[in-house]
Amino acid sequence: MDKNCKFKNKYGQWALVTGASSGIGAAIAYQLAEKGFNIILCARNQKKLDKMARKIVFQYPVSTEVITKDLSVLEQVHQLCEEVKSFELGLVVLNAGFGTSGDYINSDLDTELNMLSLNCISVAALAHYFGRRFAEQGRGGLIMLSSIVAFQGTPGAANYAASKAYVQNLSEGLYHELKPFNVDVLSAAPGPVETGFAARANMQMEGQSPSIVARDILSSLGKRNTTFPGRVSKMLIFGLRSVPRWGKVLIMKKVIRSMTEHRQKAA
Ligand SMILES: NC(=O)c1ccc[n+]([C@@H]2O[C@H](COP(=O)([O-])OP(=O)(O)OC[C@H]3O[C@@H](n4cnc5c(N)ncnc54)[C@H](OP(=O)(O)O)[C@@H]3O)[C@@H](O)[C@H]2O)c1
Repeated sequence: MDKNCKFKNKYGQWALVTGASSGIGAAIAYQLAEKGFNIILCARNQKKLDKMARKIVFQYPVSTEVITKDLSVLEQVHQLCEEVKSFELGLVVLNAGFGTSGDYINSDLDTELNMLSLNCISVAALAHYFGRRFAEQGRGGLIMLSSIVAFQGTPGAANYAASKAYVQNLSEGLYHELKPFNVDVLSAAPGPVETGFAARANMQMEGQSPSIVARDILSSLGKRNTTFPGRVSKMLIFGLRSVPRWGKVLIMKKVIRSMTEHRQKAA
């Protein structure tokens, strides 16, 4: 049996990817289709998802389903759970998320709270639903998108870093809680990745390729609890490993400042 076949047989027939319309989520969705999974693609932009679904079924012998939801709205998160009930789901990638940047007290509070709804509340609700469901069926895989900023306070992206610390901590706990039920939980904590993320967060950064990051994430599932996908992510974490937490905060302050310099220049 080849590697792809083994991977699919371990988890099941269908995979759900949230935030599948671009960036890391899109790359993961394509790679799961390559492994033979039928894919449920979820995000807000129906046009983009329909186009992706057509591309996937053209390239791979799998089925797709598009479910359009704004996952920052809890009611729509519950609707998603309801709509995937009848699918033989084995793998869920909780990837939908966005970031903000700038001094927190000068930020738009509605946007910051909306970010918490998407990055934390939707993840809490979906991990609860799928964690239970996978435990009952005695197998499954849950991948959650954290970040390297999850491991210390990050001036200039304080609320975003806090939201990813939540995801990181939740996944570390769930890893052990769900292990006895044959459910693999993985936290993926990338450094900068070339996606739509920077534009939405009003940052400028050179990132790693989403397809390399996606490959690293998928190959880590079932092997460890946390992965730092991509060479740059590993180098950044390795470089910071002996720095005390307060020192990491100061380094992150500089990193984020360099990513938002264009705004100071424009002002
Ligand atoms: N790129 C990086 O440097 C980086 C680093 C560390 C961690 N991450 C994390 O990686 C994850 C994926 O981000 P990315 O870099 O791939 O960014 P991206 O290209 O902007 O993709 C974000 C995805 O989330 C979806 N999304 C955004 N708001 C949504 C909402 N309210 N409801 C449902 N879906 C929503 C977007 O689709 P629609 O707009 O169609 O809804 C899109 O598919 C995020 O959790 C991010 O925090 C990214």
